[in-house]
Amino acid sequence: MSIPQAITGAPARSGEPRPDGPVAVPPADLRVVDPATDPAAAHRAAVRLIASGVAVLTLTVGGEMHGVTVSSLTAVSRDPLLVGICLNHRSAFLGLVKSRRLFAVSVLDATQADAARWFADPRRPRGRAQFDQIDWEGDRTSGAPLIGGAMAWMSCRLVTGVDAGDHELLLAEVLQGSAREGRPLLSFQGGLHRVLTTSPTPRGPAPAGRSAPPD
Ligand SMILES: Cc1cc2nc3c(=O)[nH]c(=O)nc-3n(C[C@H](O)[C@H](O)[C@H](O)COP(=O)(O)O)c2cc1C
Repeated sequence: MSIPQAITGAPARSGEPRPDGPVAVPPADLRVVDPATDPAAAHRAAVRLIASGVAVLTLTVGGEMHGVTVSSLTAVSRDPLLVGICLNHRSAFLGLVKSRRLFAVSVLDATQADAARWFADPRRPRGRAQFDQIDWEGDRTSGAPLIGGAMAWMSCRLVTGVDAGDHELLLAEVLQGSAREGRPLLSFQGGLHRVLTTSPTPRGPAPAGRSAPPD
């Protein structure tokens, strides 16, 4: 098998529909990294092509609230219902969640790029002031703020953490979850994007007689 060179961007074709609204789409950028000349850069370029959703993790501890933007949230297990999240060892949220253990996840909608940037900004105020400009309501299960307008919300309990290089991989049980229809905010190649679907979003249950799609 021949290993292709890593492509670090994709060219935009003229006439292609562009996302509108507040989500910044980085300009087209096609750079090819030759693994033979710079293997490390080629490896990083390959990893950067993994697209993911964006969520804000929140918690309340000692009467103070805190939130952080993540794109490393992923579904891990269906039974029990577990999600995984990777947090940098330097993350303030990481220290707080290890003591509080209960937290909430708000999966951001495509219109919430500003919230994603806010909860990633190291200059944001600490405590309740962090939520002054944010529409939120308290989660009964975790006590954490849930971000208004999100696509999905989960109340979670930290199960365990595993050291993973410069990050820690957290496993958390989903205690409660709710969702609404919407389109997700996506993180891809260091930018925030909204998804463009090529077919209508399916609504409601599948017609009788059709089995559920495989995992
Ligand atoms: C779209 C996006 C996704 C991010 N995903 C993660 C992530 O998965 N893990 C992480 O540790 N930091 C991630 N960050 C960076 C943190 O949000 C940022 O460093 C934040 O200031 C950390 O806050 P804290 O120190 O209060 O926990 C992400 C930032 C952005 C903009």
